[in-house]
Order: sequence, then C-alpha cells, then structure tokens
Amino acid sequence: VTRAVRVELADRAYDIRIGPGLIDRAGAELAPLAGRRRLVPVADETVARLHLPALQASLAAAGLNVSDPLTVPAGEGAKGFDVLEGLLDRLLGLGIDRQTILVALGGGVVGDLVGFAAAVALRGLDFVQVPTTLLAQVDSSVGGKTGINTRHGKNLVGAFHQPVLVLADTGVLDTLPRREVLAGYAEVVKYGLLGDAAFFAWLEANGADVVAGSAEARAEAVAVSCRRKAGIVARDERETGERALLNLGHTFGHALEAAAGFDGRLLHGEAVAIGMVQAFRLSVRLGLCPPADADRVEAHLRALGLPVRPRDRGLSFPVDLLLSHMAKDKKVRDGRMVFVLSRGIGRAFVATDVDPADVAAVLAETA
Ligand SMILES: NC(=O)c1ccc[n+]([C@@H]2O[C@H](COP(=O)([O-])OP(=O)(O)OC[C@H]3O[C@@H](n4cnc5c(N)ncnc54)[C@H](O)[C@@H]3O)[C@@H](O)[C@H]2O)c1
Ligand SMILES: [Zn+2]
Repeated sequence: VTRAVRVELADRAYDIRIGPGLIDRAGAELAPLAGRRRLVPVADETVARLHLPALQASLAAAGLNVSDPLTVPAGEGAKGFDVLEGLLDRLLGLGIDRQTILVALGGGVVGDLVGFAAAVALRGLDFVQVPTTLLAQVDSSVGGKTGINTRHGKNLVGAFHQPVLVLADTGVLDTLPRREVLAGYAEVVKYGLLGDAAFFAWLEANGADVVAGSAEARAEAVAVSCRRKAGIVARDERETGERALLNLGHTFGHALEAAAGFDGRLLHGEAVAIGMVQAFRLSVRLGLCPPADADRVEAHLRALGLPVRPRDRGLSFPVDLLLSHMAKDKKVRDGRMVFVLSRGIGRAFVATDVDPADVAAVLAETA
C-alpha cells in the first residue's frame, strides 16, 4: 500500500507518496500532473544505472512526453557551480520551456542540485523529487531547501523551491549500501528525539527492521518522518522559528564533518548521530535533561551500528578546532552559536545562550 503525506503550503501544497514499487508506477502517479508537459529525468550515474531504466519504462508506458534523461556524477562533488552550469546548459540545449518538469531521481545531492536548477532555469520550473536514499526520503526531498556548495562551505548558495510531488519508493533502498541506510536512519531517529517520544519508542522496537530492510517498517518510518517534517515546514517554511528544531545534532555534527574534511570518513548522518548524543549530553550537563534519556539515545544509536563518538570511526579532533567550526556555522545568530537542546526525549528547543565552556567540556567528554 502507498502511504501519503500532504505538505500544507497554501498554493504550493504537495503530496509525498511513500511505499515500495512507486517507481514502477511513476507514470500513472505523474500523469495527472504532467499531461502533455515535457518531463526531463535527471539522475546521478550510480542511480541511473540502478533505477533509471525502471523510471523511464514507467513514464513511457503511461504515454508521457519524456526527454532523454540527463546524468550528473555521483557524490557530493556534483553540488557545485560547475556541475550546475553544465546541467543548466544541457537543459537549455533541450529547448525546455516554462511548462517543463524536471524529475530528480537520486539522493540528497541530486535533489538539492536539480531542485536548485529548477528554481533558477527560466526563473522557475516545476520539479518532482524521486528520492532514492533513506536520507533523501525522510529529509532532503521534503521542505524545499535546494542548493549547492561553495569553497566557503556547504549549501551556501540556494533557494527555497518546493517540489510539486515527491515519490518515495522504499523498494529502491534495497540497493543502498548499509552504511548509507544507517546514515539516513540517524535523521529518522532525530524526528523522534525532537518532538515525538512515542515514535522514538517505536524505533527502539522496530529500528532494526527498518535498517534490515523490512518493507513495512521502512514505509512506516519514512511516513512518520515525512509527516513530522511536513508539519514543521508547513508552520515555518523559511526557518524563522520551529524549523530550527530540525537541526538537532547538527551544530555538533556539522563541526565534526568540517573537521573530518568531508572526505568520506564520516557521513553526514553519522556525524548527526554523534552530534545528537552530544546535544543530549550538553542538555544533561546544563541540568535540563534526565541522564537516563541521554543514555537511551546513545544506546539505541549504538545498538543499530551508528557511531556515537568520533573515536568509533577512528577519528579524534582537538576541541578548539571543533569550536572554531561551530563559530563559523551558517546558523550562528548575531555571533552566538545556536544549539538545539532537550528537556528529554521528544522535547527539544532552541537555545542561543549556551556557554562555550560547557560545549568544550561536552566535546572533551564525548571525544
Ligand atoms: N535540502 C535539504 O533539506 C537537505 C537535508 C538534508 C541533507 N541534504 C543534502 O543531501 C545530501 C546528502 O544526501 P544523500 O545522503 O542522499 O547523498 P547522495 O545523494 O550523495 O547519495 C549517497 C550515495 O548513494 C548513492 N545512491 C543513491 N541512491 C541509491 C540507491 N537506491 N542504491 C544505491 N546507491 C544509491 C548515490 O549515488 C551516492 O553515491 C547532502 O548534500 C546534504 O547537504 C539536504
Ligand atoms: Zn541532516
């Protein structure tokens, strides 16, 4: 069965459909939206090899107007000005018009890149997300943040541009390497920790099935995650308030990723797993959160095979280096570091008044 989550954004509201087999049914799913409009699929080379033929076959079988697909290199390197320029050049070379719909088939990299291309090509095209990583299905394909990286940092050039439809085919996760599944799972856990204690308890019981590949458990975890994110995005699309809760674990996590040099030793979700543990430890240190809740968070992530300390990945960073990365984070407000802290599982809030000495102490104790 297909689950559906609606993202309520007035005239830009859209559906996220979730379940196995959606790529095989993509033609039928897209037909009402597409009509005779031209569809241009874009995938990274890895995903193109694995899943593009099924998408093309489905769109063709529905009689839709589909261009030859475009591909970009796999990996974070594709989120740059050079690849964006090449993609826009090829799109314009196809003779696209304002009615053209881009179809982003891939992980967060393809979603962010193609979404940004859709935001700027001809001042804005519709685009459809067909996310193929767990991370993309529960996080990056929902909410309309698109963009690319620059030499000054990740995601520093971009636009808010909502998709018109998201098709999250949970069956494609079967080809995703286990390490990537786990990294996406960290973001699933995040939704429980930030505002849904019952979901976290469900994950304690069912998380191993989600990771191991149970179709039902995966679809349920993706659906609850999307519902959580969709609710937050609908209430605060531009991140002036509540949306910041989605950064739980990310102030620490981004510092760890930056310190590791984005070289693949630490995936984003792995950094977020460590960062969520650190955020809970910081909350305990500040007397806000019961220690038992922090222990539960750590135990669950560890049980599923996620790192909960840098040393679990053989990494070790000087506290000063991590603090300096935090001070440069995009989320710094008026020179103050922003942390998502917790009063317990499911009870996160944003704090801007944390003493750096407490942060340093937590970094040292969780090295
Ligand atoms: N826009 C947002 O709100 C948002 C939120 C979170 C993360 N992001 C961005 O998402 C990106 C990370 O996304 P990601 O983790 O999906 O990385 P990714 O897109 O690079 O995918 C990871 C790897 O898995 C491969 N892959 C994808 N689907 C596969 C499948 N079904 N089977 C086998 N291999 C597959 C890809 O080719 C790639 O090598 C980052 O750039 C991050 O900044 C954006
Ligand atoms: Zn994240």
